[in-house]
Amino acid sequence: MVAVAAVGDLHVEAGAGPRLRPLFQRAANDADVLLLAGDLTDRGRLAQAEAVCEVFGGLDLPVVAVLGNHDHDHDEQTRITEMLTDVGVTVLDGSVATVVAAGTTIGIAGGKGFAGGFAGRSAEIFGENEMKAFARHGQRTAELLGTAINSLDTEWRIALTHYAPVPDTLDGEPLELYPFLGNHHLAAAIDSSAVPVTLAVHGHAHYGRECGVTPGGTLVRNVAAPVIAAPYAVYRLSADPGTTAVRLL
Ligand SMILES: [Fe+2]
Ligand SMILES: [Fe+2]
Repeated sequence: MVAVAAVGDLHVEAGAGPRLRPLFQRAANDADVLLLAGDLTDRGRLAQAEAVCEVFGGLDLPVVAVLGNHDHDHDEQTRITEMLTDVGVTVLDGSVATVVAAGTTIGIAGGKGFAGGFAGRSAEIFGENEMKAFARHGQRTAELLGTAINSLDTEWRIALTHYAPVPDTLDGEPLELYPFLGNHHLAAAIDSSAVPVTLAVHGHAHYGRECGVTPGGTLVRNVAAPVIAAPYAVYRLSADPGTTAVRLL
């Protein structure tokens, strides 16, 4: 059995490392890989990133992350990525990671994604240059995710983003916020995979709900910490769609 642990939106503050580290120290007993779905830091400050490194550096399982919008807030995302990489966390940005575990391979395609909204109510490349740039950036991040997904040649395929690919998992958030919480182009990218993606994991929607599905049938899980109400959720990956993404913890 393959088990994937995931959490997002920890919004770690400076100095929080010693308090949080014990919550993740046993993750290797529960799962084959730990996914971090962005907003690792509260405001993208380097002291906060130091604390994230203290929590996730040197765990006994692979840790694969994407950054969130909060991690970009002080324009230190490149340095934060370097710091995480230095302690062994793989940070994806329109790229892939492969984990060998339990005699199989798990491919993870990830990127932060971006805002833009959902079909019929989304930003379009039209009008003011600022609006065009906003819409174009959302489409571009989704294209990069799609290219990454289609480059995977692994038994299991996971899409990891911060922004949501579907509105299902935003249920509970104010409707006015939906355009800033996700982008339907991300779902199109996930559904573009020649071999179906097993599971799509995202964060960002603190008041959303856990379970959703893309138009193409890919199972989606919002693992924002307030939503999963646990240090991390653990999902089973199974060849049987009926038992894939069943939550084990
Ligand atoms: Fe967040
Ligand atoms: Fe966020």
